[in-house]
Amino acid sequence: MKILVTGGAGYIGSHTVVELQNTGHNVVVIDNLSNSKEIALQRVSQITNKPIDFYNIDIRDFNALDKLLDKYSFDCCIHFAGLKAVGESVQKPLDYYDNNVGGTVTLLRALNKHNCKNIIFSSSACVYGNPKIIPITEECPKGLCTNPYGQTKHIIEEIMKDLQKCDSDWNIVLLRYFNPIGAHKSGTIGEDPNGIPNNLMPFITQVAVGKRPELNVFGDDYDTHDGTGVRDYIHVVDLARGHVSALKAIENKCGLEIFNLGTGNGYSVLDVVHTFEKVNNLKIPYVIKPRRAGDVPTCYSNADKAKKVLGWSAQFNLEDMCRDSWNWQKNNPNGYDE
Ligand code: NAD
Ligand code: UFG
Repeated sequence: MKILVTGGAGYIGSHTVVELQNTGHNVVVIDNLSNSKEIALQRVSQITNKPIDFYNIDIRDFNALDKLLDKYSFDCCIHFAGLKAVGESVQKPLDYYDNNVGGTVTLLRALNKHNCKNIIFSSSACVYGNPKIIPITEECPKGLCTNPYGQTKHIIEEIMKDLQKCDSDWNIVLLRYFNPIGAHKSGTIGEDPNGIPNNLMPFITQVAVGKRPELNVFGDDYDTHDGTGVRDYIHVVDLARGHVSALKAIENKCGLEIFNLGTGNGYSVLDVVHTFEKVNNLKIPYVIKPRRAGDVPTCYSNADKAKKVLGWSAQFNLEDMCRDSWNWQKNNPNGYDE
């Protein structure tokens, strides 16, 4: 298929472009490089041995999208572009609504105009809020998102549902990601956060590489097996392959479908720390800190639907994720900055 990938220079987008190219799809990437660097796409090209058509386009720029869609005829759009920092979204809520919600509406308008009515959207497990059902199925009621970032995912899902309800030519797959970590096995592409990492794994790898003295573990008094928060960590390459599988639903004219992309396993913060130490033969000093505001105790998926409908399930385990995250960080101590 001919696929438009928005946000394709980012962490999940770049890994997905690898899997798309490796399975014979033809990819055009747009990205405004607000949270990524073009070098990531050069690395992708080195992995796949295929060139990438890249355009520096902001999804809020209707005219630029219109021009691009005049030039190419796409079978599907995979839409990653968006801002994703939970803390920043509380500081700058309007930027998040403008970029994520406004940008998505503009993108949908442009696709609609050019009769490209197939889209796969990067949603998030955060739409479940404090989940009412564990493991979380797609039917689990959506919860109150505690921050503007999460709200943008919830709102975009609702906009897309309305769009599909009003025009059944649209095929829309909402993918709710759990916690992507890891990196491509080459160690040449990976997660490259700006400043102090918010998320657990990039923080651990920065401690391992000597950039930070110790990990702060946010809370050890949750009702979990060791008191620390439990999440469903998924290898980014598995997640990327989930998008290739989701194209099948689009081909089958699915209407609107929702899938969790997770492994179905929950691991605590200390499980991740100890696994990372074991597989990489390193010590990660940590201190217990108070709970982080807005965190839920436990969040992991029931991943059966994606397996049943798409034939997709995660192949990599936590050891693989810890090994590959470290392989990326040790080969690129400063991320994409050389
Ligand atoms: P990322 O920041 O690495 O990638 C997002 C990309 O979108 C970046 O390259 C950025 O430059 C680009 N972008 C942002 N705004 C844009 C705009 N207006 N126009 C064009 N490009 C724009 O993030 P990621 O981790 O790869 O996440 C990809 C998607 O998955 C995001 O929508 C994110 O919200 C979602 N998601 C991520 C996680 C996670 O833990 N990483 C979890 C659930 C959902
Ligand atoms: N944690 C620490 N120390 C840190 C960072 C995190 O102890 O320095 C803990 C958190 O308290 C939590 C767990 O590690 O218990 C995971 O935290 P992350 O920040 O890595 O991930 P979250 O589950 O909080 O959120 C992530 C993304 C969201 C996304 C969600 C579900 O940041 O955008 O996964 O997909 F919505």
